[in-house]
Amino acid sequence: MTAEMFPKEKTIDLRKKHIGPSCKVFFSHDPIKIVRAKGQYMYDENGVRYLDCINNVAHVGHSHPMVVKAGAEQMELLNTNSRFLHDNLVQYAQRLQATLPEKLSVCYFVNSGAYHGHVSSLINISPYKFHQLANAEQSKSVHVALSPDLYRGNYRQDHPDPATAYADDVNNLIQKAHEKGHKVAAFIAESLQSCGGQVIPPAGYFQKVAQHVHRAGGLFIADEVQVGFGRVGTHFWAFQLQGEDFVPDIVTMGKPIGNGHPMSCVVTTREVAEAFKNSGMEYFNTFGGNPVSCAIGLAVLDVIEKEDLQGNALRVGGYLTRLLEQQKEKHPLVGDVRGRGLFVGAELVRDRVKLTPATAEAQDIIYKLKEQHILLSADGPHRNVLKFKPPMCFSEEDADMVVEKIDQILTDIEKALGLQMPSTVHTENGSRKRNVQPEENGCHHSNGISHSHDTSQQHASQQNKRLRS
Ligand SMILES: Cc1ncc(COP(=O)(O)O)c(C=O)c1O
Repeated sequence: MTAEMFPKEKTIDLRKKHIGPSCKVFFSHDPIKIVRAKGQYMYDENGVRYLDCINNVAHVGHSHPMVVKAGAEQMELLNTNSRFLHDNLVQYAQRLQATLPEKLSVCYFVNSGAYHGHVSSLINISPYKFHQLANAEQSKSVHVALSPDLYRGNYRQDHPDPATAYADDVNNLIQKAHEKGHKVAAFIAESLQSCGGQVIPPAGYFQKVAQHVHRAGGLFIADEVQVGFGRVGTHFWAFQLQGEDFVPDIVTMGKPIGNGHPMSCVVTTREVAEAFKNSGMEYFNTFGGNPVSCAIGLAVLDVIEKEDLQGNALRVGGYLTRLLEQQKEKHPLVGDVRGRGLFVGAELVRDRVKLTPATAEAQDIIYKLKEQHILLSADGPHRNVLKFKPPMCFSEEDADMVVEKIDQILTDIEKALGLQMPSTVHTENGSRKRNVQPEENGCHHSNGISHSHDTSQQHASQQNKRLRS
């Protein structure tokens, strides 16, 4: 079967003519046309194979046969909406609940991950989005907390208690809102920040933030759209990395949940669900929770279990992280390597003391890898973090291949720039010294408090114009 209908040039022409210009394409000067995919590999119209290191949507592997079969069989039988009783809906909700702490037991099905960008209320809570608007003013009812970034943030690895320090920043925002007579609705954060630069918050941070937020009458919302479903290896949900004692009030899920099928879910507590009901508003979504989506969701859960993909994420993710750490020992441009499971970032810097972001170099690597048929992205407020979040069937051989290529490219870039490994300064206790003041434009990423009225404002530090995967 040929999956190509038009020659590539014609596809490009038609796209320019009929698809909105704000819909960006990867590698716009020479976009890739993918016609089929399997596992962690994608194939272009000429049969060239690309290694996919970034697609956390094709969670259990592109076009997984069990997922395809489940969807096709259910589609043949019935697809309708959640106003009819159907066992797929309740069975899926039950299976999902079994992966979560007990009190997170009520589901609302949606067909997209509550995108931070298509309605103004959601643009408002995402600095990633509102920084893209020219002359954007941040909503006065949203406060952006400091990104709990231990590498480049306000409180770093050498801080005695960064979890408390970052949580205190949230508390300060709450206090300021209170001083103006306002209430707190919620705190929302990704459990690990993806577009924010593969940031791993210090353990205990969420508990402390939740205490402050709850005391103020607000809710804690964990966004697991990118990082959930076993990706972090040790746990099924990334918020669980914070410790057994932390349970959010609301969890949002998307991308991997349907392995590419448009499906998403908001899970919450009975108490929150009852409060929502008491508002009098019916919740209905035409496609959310339909029998086909739920059959697909069930198949995804089955594959994760059957193929031990969470275990694979732990093993291969650990292996990939170690390979990248070796690169850090070898290449001055690699400033930091951090990750959990198959969610890994390598932050590139021109100077390991000043932490000057190596943005152009990161982009160069991405383009050179593309030429060698490897798909990777660079993200973060400075777009200098190489971001790995591949399908969960990613193998050690794949990790070897991509890191080997990165090694070669880094060697060439550093040679051209005349960069050499710095002589490392050590502190008395043997740890590497990194006591640099945070850069003036500290990153304020997708952690935020939202309430109904407020006048305080924090300004955008970066114009984050980039592609989002
Ligand atoms: C962390 C996070 N939350 C929510 C969303 C929104 O998901 P969707 O595009 O399915 O609406 C995205 C999408 O990129 C995301 O990365």
